Amino acid sequence: MTETLSGTVTDPAAAPSDVVLDVRGLNVEYATADGPVRACVDVSFELRRGEILGVAGESGSGKSTLITALTRLQRPPAVTSAGQLLYHGRDGAPPIDLVTLSGRELRRLRWTTLSIVLQSAMDALNPVMRVGAQFVDALRTHDRRLDKRAAWEQAAELLGMVGVSADRARAYPHELSGGMRQRASIALALACRPDLVVMDEPTTAVDVVMQRQILAQVLRLRRELGFAVVFVTHDLSLLLELADRVAIMYAGRIVELGTAASLYAQPRHPYTRGLRDSFPPLHAPLRRLTGISGSPPDLRRPPSGCPFHPRCRERFDGCDERLPVLRDVGGNDVACHLYPEGS
Ligand SMILES: Nc1ncnc2c1ncn2[C@@H]1O[C@H](COP(=O)(O)OP(=O)(O)O)[C@@H](O)[C@H]1O
Ligand code: SF4
Ligand SMILES: [Mg+2]
Repeated sequence: MTETLSGTVTDPAAAPSDVVLDVRGLNVEYATADGPVRACVDVSFELRRGEILGVAGESGSGKSTLITALTRLQRPPAVTSAGQLLYHGRDGAPPIDLVTLSGRELRRLRWTTLSIVLQSAMDALNPVMRVGAQFVDALRTHDRRLDKRAAWEQAAELLGMVGVSADRARAYPHELSGGMRQRASIALALACRPDLVVMDEPTTAVDVVMQRQILAQVLRLRRELGFAVVFVTHDLSLLLELADRVAIMYAGRIVELGTAASLYAQPRHPYTRGLRDSFPPLHAPLRRLTGISGSPPDLRRPPSGCPFHPRCRERFDGCDERLPVLRDVGGNDVACHLYPEGS
């Protein structure tokens, strides 16, 4: 690396090279009049190059907080109070800690390294600019030698990649259907060939048919372009089809993390089991949907011990007193006292 970013970490042996993002001990709090609300607590995971990591959990579990912290797009009252976000570039240089980067350094990495797709394409697209012109802007900001004509051609090509015809490049966002806008915002996120794309409920606002098309496109583009994805949704059955690995969040913490196949076949945490049985599977035969009784905790006053204990059918003595920590259980990481150390 010729230029040293302020966040460069000096220990290159910190993580294996196939890891693109190494999240370590991330804590994010909201400062409120009632005191700090801890919406991400000690969140750690590794994202491998080209991997799709799903993050699932009910509303209020901290998913969007995690996404905005990963992309450094959070605004007050949210504060990252601890942790590291170690980004490993393709060049084998020492990792960069995104938490400590300045605004200018972050802007350089945005789009080319790290980009984001939000639930509503309208949050990403400028309503008063032609869709293609937004691609041209993004492409030329990161490659000043690119002339306008070539940038428009690339814009049309990128839109084509997500099944939006080239003539739509001259349309304004409101002239596109909701599904088309969402696909355009995914293409925009991929325009500068990032290593890592973070998606927060990108298909929640579109119908099921469009959802399937978008997911199929994300999988195809990932194969072609090799970017890694953190994909957040409340819909676990969708992730079990799309993701390589899945992290389950509850009350701001990861409570289970494993391959999508193992979480589907053998979810170990009672909350994962409840979530799996709350959504109809996309392909497998229908199961009886049981759901989870009660509602997620108010994070201003989280429950003592295991945060899931007030809703857990399998709780036992001590669950309301001791906080379970993530530990390896048959290859997955699980935070639950049903699996004591050495079990
Ligand atoms: N602006 C805010 N001020 C205070 N607390 C907030 C704010 N936004 C979110 N929170 C807290 O963070 C929790 C997680 O929110 P969020 O990350 O949006 O969850 P999710 O995306 O999983 O629905 C919420 O339950 C709430 O307690
Ligand atoms: S630790 Fe206890 S309360 Fe928490 S999920 Fe496990 S069994 Fe249920
Ligand atoms: Mg959210």
